[in-house]
Amino acid sequence: MLAKSLPLLSASLALMDTATAALLSMTASLPGSTLDGQFVVAAGQSFALGKTDTPATYCPTVVEPNCPNVTGTIFAGTGALWVEVPGGQATYVTKEGLFGFTQAHSAFVPVGAYQGGWVNKTIIPECEEEEPYTVLTFQAYNATVGGVSACPVTSPGDYGSVSYKIYGVTPQFNRTDCVELDGLLPHTPPTNAIGAWQYT
Ligand SMILES: *[C@@H]1O[C@H](CO)[C@@H](O)[C@H](O)[C@H]1NC(C)=O
Ligand SMILES: *[C@@H]1O[C@H](CO)[C@@H](O)[C@H](O)[C@H]1NC(C)=O
Ligand SMILES: *[C@@H]1O[C@H](CO)[C@@H](O)[C@H](O)[C@H]1NC(C)=O
Ligand SMILES: *[C@@H]1O[C@H](CO)[C@@H](O)[C@H](O)[C@H]1NC(C)=O
Repeated sequence: MLAKSLPLLSASLALMDTATAALLSMTASLPGSTLDGQFVVAAGQSFALGKTDTPATYCPTVVEPNCPNVTGTIFAGTGALWVEVPGGQATYVTKEGLFGFTQAHSAFVPVGAYQGGWVNKTIIPECEEEEPYTVLTFQAYNATVGGVSACPVTSPGDYGSVSYKIYGVTPQFNRTDCVELDGLLPHTPPTNAIGAWQYT
């Protein structure tokens, strides 16, 4: 019984931080591009684009066998990830634009990073038969620039198949090798199941 109560308790702690936030997963939105529809996937304390939503996650052995099943990269609103680890995991956009998230057990965000700044943007398709839809885009407070870009990973890392990372366009964003997206399309997960114990 004791072992079982641990994840339940921490789930309710995470819930307190994020109780009012709608759960969502996201895909890249850029009709006509091969990036359109690719999942926003947690990988390496930042977010990659992937054809499947198979995030990098961790669950300590002490929690077994009560580790939650990984259900994908699930956000609780735009400001946090839907995790069970005590303290939760917050999202941010670095000064240079990289969309990232905090390590478990740490509230550290890089100096100058933005917390918040994600806003809704309505896309009106050129084809009149299609309905307008809403995507999320990044607009730093007071900034004259904004938007979401997918930038190629420049150095080979541990995520062999990953080739793009998500950036918010900040005033200091200066990469010129990126694909400008219309935004990130939010999707409501089929259930309210936790996304993962923690993302890594
Ligand atoms: C995780 O998935 C397994 C296999 O589908 C299932 O038996 C189990 O009940 C699931 N656990 C939770 C906590 O949903
Ligand atoms: C975007 O719009 C949806 C639906 O109206 C709303 O639930 C959500 O909070 C909005 N997101 C932001 C970042 O404003
Ligand atoms: C936004 O701009 C206003 C007016 O220039 C300024 O007073 C305020 O400090 C700025 N806020 C931030 C967060 O930069
Ligand atoms: C882009 O920004 C980074 C860090 O802010 C800086 O080191 C680099 O020199 C800048 N590159 C260009 C071309 O301005």
